[in-house]
Amino acid sequence: MKITVLTLFKEMYDGFLNSSIIKRIIDKQLVEINIVDIRDYSNDKHRHVDDTPYGGGAGMLMKVDVVHRALLDNKSDSSHILLTSPKAKPLVQKDLERLSKLDDIVIVCGHYEGIDYRIEKYCDEKVSIGDYVLTGGELASMVLIDGILRLLDEGISSASLLEESYNNGLLEYAQYTRPYEYEGDIVPEVLANGNHKEIKRFNLKSSLKETLTYRPDLLENRELSEIEKELLLELQKEKENGN
Ligand code: ADE
Repeated sequence: MKITVLTLFKEMYDGFLNSSIIKRIIDKQLVEINIVDIRDYSNDKHRHVDDTPYGGGAGMLMKVDVVHRALLDNKSDSSHILLTSPKAKPLVQKDLERLSKLDDIVIVCGHYEGIDYRIEKYCDEKVSIGDYVLTGGELASMVLIDGILRLLDEGISSASLLEESYNNGLLEYAQYTRPYEYEGDIVPEVLANGNHKEIKRFNLKSSLKETLTYRPDLLENRELSEIEKELLLELQKEKENGN
């Protein structure tokens, strides 16, 4: 896979691309990442990339001609072009799964108060990383790259990908490691007893409990299996009894 990022702030990627897990994936040649400075495509001597908006209003907008030149010089016919923007449906795990199957992604990072609207027609998809506004798209592009790369990484076992939060529409269950007892808090006994059927049931119940507590909306749109219904009833009874 090849990922090209068009940005005004190349230096923001130094730490990110050299961090241990991301660097390992790049070193394994599972992905080639190119960071391109949009400013290199400005054609005035002061290297301007932004201008005031028509019709007035606060702030500056990135210029469509500069960004489009950067895009044309760095995309291929098969590139899937993403534009980071808070004006889009927020990213979910399914989007990362879909994007991780592509061969060539170009990410255009928006900045300042935005980009000239006309750039949108040269992009395939707008991506927001959540319903809040950042100063620019660089962090959003890193979120995208991080989420995609970990799906490419053979280092993450398919078992852990299968079990993780969001994969089956539920949040991940509570997990524990040594020590068995910490400040009086002990690991649930069932996890130490080696009975896989009981452990599976216990973990599903824990997943449901986490989801019910932190993301009850995920349960509303879900078709519940018999065992899930049974476990949710158990959780409800436990709550009524104050457990
Ligand atoms: N640029 C500014 N805010 C953003 C957001 N929430 N997602 C993606 N790009 C952005």
